[in-house]
Parts: sequence; C-alpha cells; structure tokens
Amino acid sequence: MKAFILDRYGNADRVRAGDMPDPQLREDDVLVQIHAAGVNQLDSKIRDGEFKSFLRYRLPLILGHDVAGVVVRVGSRVRQFKPGDEVYARPADGRSGAFAELIAITEADVAKKPKALTMEEAASIPLVGLTAWQALIESANLQPGQKVLIHAGSGGVGTFAIQLAKHAGATVATTTSTDNVDLVRSLGADVVIDYKKEDFSDVLRDYDVVLNSLDKVTLEKSLRVLKPGGQLISISGPPDAAFARTIGASWVLRMVMGALSRGIRAQAKRRHVHYSFLFMRANGGQLAKITSLIDDGIIRPVVDRVFPFASTKEAMAYVEAGRAKGKVIVSVRES
Ligand SMILES: NC(=O)c1ccc[n+]([C@@H]2O[C@H](COP(=O)([O-])OP(=O)(O)OC[C@H]3O[C@@H](n4cnc5c(N)ncnc54)[C@H](OP(=O)(O)O)[C@@H]3O)[C@@H](O)[C@H]2O)c1
Repeated sequence: MKAFILDRYGNADRVRAGDMPDPQLREDDVLVQIHAAGVNQLDSKIRDGEFKSFLRYRLPLILGHDVAGVVVRVGSRVRQFKPGDEVYARPADGRSGAFAELIAITEADVAKKPKALTMEEAASIPLVGLTAWQALIESANLQPGQKVLIHAGSGGVGTFAIQLAKHAGATVATTTSTDNVDLVRSLGADVVIDYKKEDFSDVLRDYDVVLNSLDKVTLEKSLRVLKPGGQLISISGPPDAAFARTIGASWVLRMVMGALSRGIRAQAKRRHVHYSFLFMRANGGQLAKITSLIDDGIIRPVVDRVFPFASTKEAMAYVEAGRAKGKVIVSVRES
C-alpha cells in the first residue's frame, strides 16, 4: 500500500512516499480503508524524535494519528464493527499510520463516524476531540457556571475545546489573534482576548481551569488568572512525574519528568492551584460520546484546508507553521 514513511528520525526530508506491506490484523483489530487523515503537530514532533524517549516506535513507521474510513476486515474477536462500517479513530500510541491507504486499529479505539460529516470532516475530530474531552471533562470535571480559559482558541484543540466547554455550561475565555476573533466567537467563546492587543493575564481573574497549549511564558502567566483551588492543565509540557507513572516510564525518566516540571509545580503550589500535564490517549468509548455530540449538532468540525494525499508533506509543513484555523486534512481516497 502507498504510505508516508519515516525511516530515521529527523527533519521533513526524512519523510518519503513509498510502498509498505498491508498492516497485519490482530484478533481484536479492525482493518480500515482510509479515506481521510487529520494532520497534527504530533506527527512532526514524532518525526523530529522529540518523543522517542517515551513513545517507542520501531522504524520505519508510517506517520498520521487521525483516521476516517471504512472497515474492510475485522479480527476474530471483534464484536462492535463489521465490514462496510464508516468509522473514525485516533489509533493508539505505537500504532500510528493514518498517512496510508490502510490501517489496523484496536477495536476499543474506534468509533462510528458522525453521520452528517464528510470523511474529511470526520478525520478532523478524534485527536483534538479526545484531548479536549480528557482535559476538560475527565481531568478538570468542568461544571456549569465555572470559568475556563482555553489558549489558542483558533487552533485544532482550541476550536473543539471551546465548543465542548460551552456544552459543559462553562464561561469560556480564549486567546487568539485579530484575524481569528470572529471564528472563536462563532464557536461560542464568551471572552476573547486578542493577544496582539492585550495580555490575557492583565484581564482575566478567578478562573477555575486553564487549558494551556502554548509556551512556558504563557504557562506561567496562566497561574495568575486562576483562583485558589483552580487547575492548570497543559498539553504542551512540561511533563510531570504523574504522567511518567501513567506511561510506566523508567525510574530515570520519572526523575527527568519530575525535574522538568519542578518549577511550574512549585509556582502552582504557592498559588494554591494544581498543575498537571496531559498526553491524550486513544479511547473509542469517549470518541463515541463525541460522535453523539456531533450528531446532535452541539459540536461542529472546523476544517482549514484539505490537501491531496500526494501533498501530505506540504500538509505537515502547513500545520507546523502554527497558523492553522482549525484542522488540516489529507484526502487519501475520494469518497
Ligand atoms: N499533549 C497532548 O495530548 C496534545 C494533544 C493535542 C495537541 N497538543 C499540542 O498542543 C499544541 C496545540 O495543538 P493544536 O493542534 O491546537 O495546534 P494548531 O492547530 O497548530 O494551533 C494553531 C493555532 O494556534 C494559534 N496560536 C499560535 N500562537 C498563539 C498565541 N500566542 N496565542 C493564541 N493563539 C495562538 C494560532 O492562531 P493565530 O494564528 O491567531 O495566532 C493557530 O490558529 C501543539 O503543541 C500540540 O502538539 C498536545
């Protein structure tokens, strides 16, 4: 099958289009013919080797972490899916491979595709939808009436997280640049901070939750907007020892991750707020709940650009530039 392959960690030149054997199906796997794949910053970070200390891939690997397509075969123990089902998924760590014609995914990581969405729209959802779900619903347990700040509201995670937080009944503030103010308002943001004109940490106070996806300066400033007892959840680092434990990291890696987050954890403690790092996980059950929200018209996809399969590397470069409004998709097969 055709795929975008990484033979050695490194820059964009290391990714090549080529042929790979069709994936082997385990007994609890579904084999999906990929129609569309979502592009994430994660793909470039894995390519660069940024995560190789804890995401143990055997090279060569196929990049790509968001899939929408049609089930073509199922393993002997699969019960929920059958050939012909339209599905979407964020395959588990260690099983990437959305930039290809076929992928094998554990049944537990797959969900039925939202009915009203095109394959391209569906492929925009799993990774960012699950990230927002795990941050706002699972970790923060966001409640009606609470106040949440979602950084980078116009990005892949932000566009989904704003809508999910509104659905949870929260008041939502977000940061974005002037060009994207209308977009984030249309998604439901109540308070929009145009970072070109003002500093969010001068304006916002007494927030319950901050979802950070930006740099260290933003992370540290975010502490100032939280009320005592508030939660600072970062998806852009630094990792902490609790995260290291959840991935079964070695003693050395636990120490390293603990040290990386010591500064922000100490600052958080002084302000009586809680810091945690989140690295999202594949989860077909949560994705099925997201399907319902989309089918009910509560959350809509935001797709910036769709690239042809042959232009997958250009799509990755576009995402890496960091200016995407919502999601960037690769169309693998005409639906
Ligand atoms: N740990 C995890 O599980 C996890 C999961 C998903 C994502 N992530 C990470 O989270 C980060 C965001 O992911 P993403 O997919 O949302 O990225 P993205 O879609 O590439 O984000 C692009 C958006 O960021 C906005 N942005 C850039 N700088 C900004 C700033 N200073 N203030 C406010 N907005 C800003 C841009 O808006 P403007 O053009 O208006 O600036 C653009 O719309 C990435 O580092 C990604 O790797 C982590």
